[in-house]
Amino acid sequence: MDQKRDGFSNKFGVIAAAAGSAIGLGNIWRFPYVLGENGGGAFLLIYLFFIVAIGVPVLVSELLIGRMSQRGVFGAFRVLAPDFKFFKVVGVMGVGAAFLILSFYAVVAGWTIEYTFLATANQLGDKSPPQLAFLFNEFSNSFWRPLFYMIVFMCLTAAIVVGGVKNGIEKYSKILMPVLLLIIVMLCINSVSLNGAMQGLSFLFQPDFSKINNDVILEALGQAFFSLSLGMGIIATYGSYVQKKENLLQTAISVSFADTLIAILAGVAIFPAVFAFGIQPDAGPGLVFVTLPNIFNQMMGGYFFAVAFFVLLFIAALTSSVSLLEVVVAYITEELKLKRKKATFLAAFLITVFGMFCVAYPILFTSFEWTTSNILLPLSGVLITIFVGWFIGSRKTKAELESHGRSVKSISILMIILKIFAPIAIALVFLDNLNII
Ligand code: PHE
Repeated sequence: MDQKRDGFSNKFGVIAAAAGSAIGLGNIWRFPYVLGENGGGAFLLIYLFFIVAIGVPVLVSELLIGRMSQRGVFGAFRVLAPDFKFFKVVGVMGVGAAFLILSFYAVVAGWTIEYTFLATANQLGDKSPPQLAFLFNEFSNSFWRPLFYMIVFMCLTAAIVVGGVKNGIEKYSKILMPVLLLIIVMLCINSVSLNGAMQGLSFLFQPDFSKINNDVILEALGQAFFSLSLGMGIIATYGSYVQKKENLLQTAISVSFADTLIAILAGVAIFPAVFAFGIQPDAGPGLVFVTLPNIFNQMMGGYFFAVAFFVLLFIAALTSSVSLLEVVVAYITEELKLKRKKATFLAAFLITVFGMFCVAYPILFTSFEWTTSNILLPLSGVLITIFVGWFIGSRKTKAELESHGRSVKSISILMIILKIFAPIAIALVFLDNLNII
């Protein structure tokens, strides 16, 4: 594994790869609906706080662990802390989380395929808002079609993972992510020009503090981890490919910024339309699939935008699920010593079976979603911060973060966050939710 490690060619390569994993259904599908269910602006405020105060530090920590050890997440802890076998648990939780996340993620990704076909066949263009809501409910509560598309999606993901991640998917992400951004901006412009848009914007941007409770806080924390792809070792593995001359802190900030920007723009595209078309903001997982077709129907060139949007959403989902499957495959090849082809087949097969249960039982879908993002990811995130803060320590962290040759000013703040603030904050959020405090 260790001969000559492949590397990202430059800073843009790293950022594009990490952003390709981070930017996905989490930004465009999950963020708006979780925000809608959790009171709007107040959620946004807490979310932004967690991104800055915990997301960026955990992101830097993962990159740092990977680059220092020159290993994927399992090997990394072995190399960096041979005496503390306990930290292996981070890798194990990461694999478990990736497995469960992909089994519901692939279901939603399958929906994007169905919607691409519906848009192409112009079957969304002639429908009223209630008809679009009905269409979505009927489709997502059925079994065979969603199952079929989920399987198609898993086959595509597996085909890419078998061939290796680097050359295909990243090259495409670099081109396609900017196109996705452009389309979202167009959607935003159209959405805010709808009658009644103001109400949606104030729902999104005006915090109503009475809406804040411990559920909202936990959801915001979970969404921050989910959206940045943290707590699973994906970013650590990418970190092992980053050259010493890159500034890790800056990389982490750029990735978090890009990820948050896309999420907020998705909110700006969706909430004005939610209010303009009389849809409930807390409509749940169907929110995007119901509101956006309504905007397309009001837009010039709506047909074209609808097709392009769902294709790109599908691609955004694919770049993220490749990174999810890769975590499981890396585990099977490294720890169980299976060949890559077999490992990919086995992992994809098992995940598809779990996905099938998610299609059949929506309660499983939501509980996988809730447990992974709100519990597993923050929990392994906190172990990562403790590891860097206390085990790697200030001196080595500083040396690694300054390996590009210039001094980084905010290291002492970062260390305080890693050692004290992040572990305590995450512990408090957990305890509060279990009603222990
Ligand atoms: N961050 C991805 C998204 O926002 C989802 C994901 C989570 C991908 C965890 C990899 C790991 O869609």
